[in-house]
Amino acid sequence: MTDTLAEEITAAIAAAPNAAVAMDDAVRLLKERLPYYTWAGIYLLEGDELVLGPYIGKPSPHTRIPLNRGICGAAASEKTTIIVDDVHSDPRYLACSIETRSEIVAPIMRGDTVLGEIDVDSDGVAAFGQRDRELLETVARALAQKI
Ligand code: SME
Repeated sequence: MTDTLAEEITAAIAAAPNAAVAMDDAVRLLKERLPYYTWAGIYLLEGDELVLGPYIGKPSPHTRIPLNRGICGAAASEKTTIIVDDVHSDPRYLACSIETRSEIVAPIMRGDTVLGEIDVDSDGVAAFGQRDRELLETVARALAQKI
């Protein structure tokens, strides 16, 4: 199912006329197709801060995140996907919504350069696994071609 979804999203990104539409489409399709994705958004790296771009879900107070803060900052600094099974037990976690229990963040990379990241929250504990990682990393690679 996620393989088909990955194809659908990468096709939408490839067909998008610009980066803004590509990012909107990616966030919308992820959120629509996967009901356990309770918040889905994209941060873009500007200097040493991650700046919130398109998202679907409750408004987040974290619209600018320094690289040394949060799970978002860690994923960008370490240039790797991070999955947190229980945000309550991760001291890095910056709360966005009290319902959130788990989180996945996948960097959007061009070569060794971080362009931004895809951030997804779920209300379920340990909601994210290998298939989510592969899906978001595939979407991130497609977005890197457009951003
Ligand atoms: N939880 C993130 C902050 C972003 S909100 O979830 C949208 C973090 O710890 O970096």
